[in-house]
Amino acid sequence: MSAAGDAGGFAFPVLQQPQEDPKKIPLTAFSTVTDRSGPSLAPQVAVPITDKPARSKIPLEKGYTQVDWLKLSKSGTDLNGLGGQALRKDISLAEVAQHKTADDAWMVLRGKVYNVTPYLRFHPGGPEILVKAAGKDATALFTKFHAWVNADALLDKCLVGLLAK
Ligand code: HEM
Repeated sequence: MSAAGDAGGFAFPVLQQPQEDPKKIPLTAFSTVTDRSGPSLAPQVAVPITDKPARSKIPLEKGYTQVDWLKLSKSGTDLNGLGGQALRKDISLAEVAQHKTADDAWMVLRGKVYNVTPYLRFHPGGPEILVKAAGKDATALFTKFHAWVNADALLDKCLVGLLAK
């Protein structure tokens, strides 16, 4: 029986361990570990992040998960309300403002106008907050609450058109 590290005459190379105190090894841009030897830089008390809104996810009704929304989006249902007509390119903010109720809610996000009525019950932040932003350019609110959400993808089938230049 060979000794550990020795397979039939072949000795597996053993990596040299650093001789000096590993805590003193400087970290480089390629380091994959964090040097925790020094004093902690983390604040000792929790600092509230005041410019971010509090998280308030609403429990969704049965049948209104994000997966259900994706299924509906792919189902061919008319979600933008255009009945298959070409997308518009000339929508004014005044026209958007006329669509501000739950059963007829348009919203502008980054120059695109969406009919968000079909999405209301699927919205993880709840329908009410969306209805409040309906009829308006909600780009700033959208970014404030969840800049990471991909509205282009989620609302693709709800796109009515573009704001007039
Ligand atoms: C129609 C466009 C919108 C879409 C597609 C959308 C989509 C989403 C998604 C996917 C989430 C879950 C985010 C996550 O889990 O990280 C979410 C959460 C939320 N959204 Fe929206 N949203 C829209 C507009 C808005 C607007 C205009 C507001 C504010 C007026 C808003 C407020 C919220 C809030 C408060 C939450 C819960 C945040 C949390 O606790 O995680 N959303 N939304």
